[in-house]
Amino acid sequence: MDVKKVVSEMTLEEKASLCSGADFWHTKAVERLGVPRMMVADGPHGLRKQDQSADHLGINASIKAVCFPTAAGLACSFDRDLLFRVGEALGKECQAEGVGVLLGPAANIKRSPLCGRNFEYFSEDPYLSGELAAAHIRGVQSRKVGTSLKHYAVNNQETRRMSVDARVDERTLREIYLASFEGAVKEGKPWTVMCSYNRVNGVYASENERLLTDILRGEWGFDGCTVTDWGACNDHVAGVAAGLDLQMPFGGAHNDEALVRAVREGRIEEAVVDRAAERILTVVNRYLEGRDRTAVFDRAGHHKLARAVARECMVLLKNEGDLLPLSASRRVAFIGPFVKHPRYQGGGSSHINASEETGAMEAASEYADVIYAQGCCGREDRTDKELLSRAVNAAQAAETAVLFVGLPDAFESEGYDRKHMRLPECQTQLIREVLRVQKRVVVVLHNGAPVEMPWADEVPAILEAYLGGQAVGGAVADLLFGKASPCGKLAETFPLHMEDNPSHLNFPGDGDRVEYREGIYVGYRYYDKRSVKVLFPFGHGLSYTTFAYDNLRLDKERMKDTETLTASVEVTNTGRVAAKEIVQFYVAPAHEGISRPVKELRGFAKIHLEPGETKTLSVQLPPRAFAYYETAISDWYVEPGAYDVLAAASSTDVRQRARVQIESTRRLPVRVHENTTFGDAMKIPGAQEILRPLADALTAVMGGGDSKALGESTQQMVDAMLRDMPLRALVSFAGDAAGANVLHDIVRALREAEDRAQA
Ligand code: BGC
Repeated sequence: MDVKKVVSEMTLEEKASLCSGADFWHTKAVERLGVPRMMVADGPHGLRKQDQSADHLGINASIKAVCFPTAAGLACSFDRDLLFRVGEALGKECQAEGVGVLLGPAANIKRSPLCGRNFEYFSEDPYLSGELAAAHIRGVQSRKVGTSLKHYAVNNQETRRMSVDARVDERTLREIYLASFEGAVKEGKPWTVMCSYNRVNGVYASENERLLTDILRGEWGFDGCTVTDWGACNDHVAGVAAGLDLQMPFGGAHNDEALVRAVREGRIEEAVVDRAAERILTVVNRYLEGRDRTAVFDRAGHHKLARAVARECMVLLKNEGDLLPLSASRRVAFIGPFVKHPRYQGGGSSHINASEETGAMEAASEYADVIYAQGCCGREDRTDKELLSRAVNAAQAAETAVLFVGLPDAFESEGYDRKHMRLPECQTQLIREVLRVQKRVVVVLHNGAPVEMPWADEVPAILEAYLGGQAVGGAVADLLFGKASPCGKLAETFPLHMEDNPSHLNFPGDGDRVEYREGIYVGYRYYDKRSVKVLFPFGHGLSYTTFAYDNLRLDKERMKDTETLTASVEVTNTGRVAAKEIVQFYVAPAHEGISRPVKELRGFAKIHLEPGETKTLSVQLPPRAFAYYETAISDWYVEPGAYDVLAAASSTDVRQRARVQIESTRRLPVRVHENTTFGDAMKIPGAQEILRPLADALTAVMGGGDSKALGESTQQMVDAMLRDMPLRALVSFAGDAAGANVLHDIVRALREAEDRAQA
């Protein structure tokens, strides 16, 4: 279809009607011009295509499809290729089912462990989140099916998600909440971006021109179509004017009419409606051109893939005395509510009608004879004494007890937040009672976000399975019995207590307002800076082998802020089994400067190593890896100074460190006035000359008239004090020694020097 031509032949009414959906899951057709409707469906970790009763809350059934691990789990793979492969499989399912756009992935930052939807989000770290979302997008779109990167932006809680106003300062917005979307947009190039329900600094995301147009398109180069979250449109005309293209689901005829009226009354230009129609049709056209009517998908093959993927995502949190892997010859008891019916996905719009399910019991039969006890019903806090006592007996009869626990649906879902970070009481009691009779205990967790583990010290082994998709039981069995070594690492911090989390005092806010007062100190950025002890740190994950890191090398010792640094490190498998290691590269500023996290993740790689094998892996660290967002210039800025590059096994397990010195080619402008500090003024080239007479006069006043009278250490103190004094105060302290009119003259001379420097 020649999109421009079709749009030029459309009436205003037709163009306006295109800007809202036909029904829950389709764009509108314009039959007169041969434009068909296009279907969209959720996402993100499986296809939720509804043929019959439609809803966006996961209530009515959808077609059978394969449920992969949710993003919280996928993120722990730290594996771009894996995310690509999952995306590709989803793209194939969409092709086979005639779906043009899959609604995902979701790149919102995990601000609080209590957000009910964290299972759908990747990480507390924007770099990791952006990289993985981009890989997912590339995978789906490689099958010529679109994605909808969501929920843009600052949608980090479910409480009042449709009305809450997230108040976040500019630097935090850029460095944390937008950075995750920025990476995904720039590298993934999604066909569509879905705006969120909430307001951002007072303006609904669906009519936020700054987000939808200035930043998304102007700065990041997005050229696709923007769409509302389902029901997120506040004022359709304001939305379209701000850069919103498609309102979903339908909005009603009055919305289309309002848009027509706004054009006729001159409140919005027709060209703006043309632009939205063109963008929507461009996506429809892309889908039509790539449509493969012969496509079928291999459900059994995708189920196998789901098992392999889940294996790569689970995180071995603890393994004292090498309790795992289990030996098939020892008697094992599987106990818990999630043995036979694992919880492997979350509630809400992403809920998949899974094509099949593999529970751990069934999968373990490939390896060993296992005895079973349910232990508790798991869905509520109430303990069932009979179930509990059978579980204790089973644990006693076995040599190792594996407990399958986690969060029930009612505790964690789209649409509401968690009330606390604990497991249901009956599960905690089950763990405690089993520990009384059995010391060899493994806990396998099925949850979409961190839980408190008051029993963690007494349990020797803990495997975090997250919400591992429909083949979760198979993957857990493969890891428990050592078919593969665990190789996931945490994409978020597990705090010891909910109160330790930086958002705690301001989550979920008061009424319709939530203030992000912790600023840039989200997740490990906060725990690191405050040296807060955590249960398991960001980036942590064990393996059945061990790895040594050597020879971290940087390709430069000094460089300019415009250059890219290459860092490489050698990693050796020093244990006895083949396994994969995730190597994390952090940048830690090593100079005095603006307030910043101790370190930030700027690169990662995952490698497979046979026992004894060594490989060198390297990452590129572009200027952005060293930059912070400087609001004075509305841009990223690299402070001059020393930076350490860390090669680490987790955020608290730094193995290698090397330093680079960076020279800035850019200087932050100083806007001089009477209250500019002496230190800031001195940053202006030529300031030394201008300020010397004043400094001498001051020193002379302090030295009783003799500018040389101060000793060296006193002089240093004076210098340090001078640095933060405004020019006005300095002149007044110097008194007559500074001469008349001096403040005015100094400010003028400094302004001229600044103008010369900026020219
Ligand atoms: C969710 C979106 C989803 C949409 C359509 C909304 O409630 O926030 O993530 O894609 O419904 O089901």
